[in-house]
Amino acid sequence: MVPNEERMQRFTKLLPLDRMYGAWSNEAIVGGAGSFPFDLTVPGGDLPTAGVTVVGVLPTHRRRGVLRSLMRAQLDDAYERGEPLAALWASEESIYGRYGYGLASFCGEITLAREHTAFAQPFEPEGTLRLLEAEEAQEKIPPVYELIRS
Ligand SMILES: CC(C)(COP(=O)(O)OP(=O)(O)OC[C@H]1O[C@@H](n2cnc3c(N)ncnc32)[C@H](O)[C@@H]1OP(=O)(O)O)[C@@H](O)C(=O)NCCC(=O)NCCS
Repeated sequence: MVPNEERMQRFTKLLPLDRMYGAWSNEAIVGGAGSFPFDLTVPGGDLPTAGVTVVGVLPTHRRRGVLRSLMRAQLDDAYERGEPLAALWASEESIYGRYGYGLASFCGEITLAREHTAFAQPFEPEGTLRLLEAEEAQEKIPPVYELIRS
């Protein structure tokens, strides 16, 4: 998906272009990887970290070592910038172990100011809420559970 202009503007505010790597073939970009600069809280303080993002190689150029070259360049770059850590949320976690990434946490928490949030789909609240006694809950909740899981 090619991002529109507005998305590009927003993205480049957070991702400086000199942290973006492109893989080129015949003057066309065929792959890329970038990293957000941020400080990661670790025991004892925080450390400058490369927040790896937008990793991808075009289907026409996969399985030829493009990703490997991008990862090498990116880690060397982070090292030269004095960033001892690189971190990511992987869409496909099986890819990154070979570059030294591993599971850091089983859970995460994000605090987001309400004014910066919105429902992804239109939502009209309906109905009312009330607490149930255990006996009534045992009767009323199983059919709801069955409906949702089926
Ligand atoms: C994942 C992706 C970036 C790999 O790019 P690539 O240039 O084909 O990868 P390379 O040829 O450099 O392969 C590097 C290594 O990763 C392995 N690998 C490649 N794609 C893989 C995948 N989908 N799952 C697991 N391992 C994979 C290769 O076997 C190779 O291993 P080796 O070095 O031990 O031989 C590419 O398939 C892609 O863009 N996929 C869609 C987007 C995506 O998934 N991005 C990652 C989001 S977290």
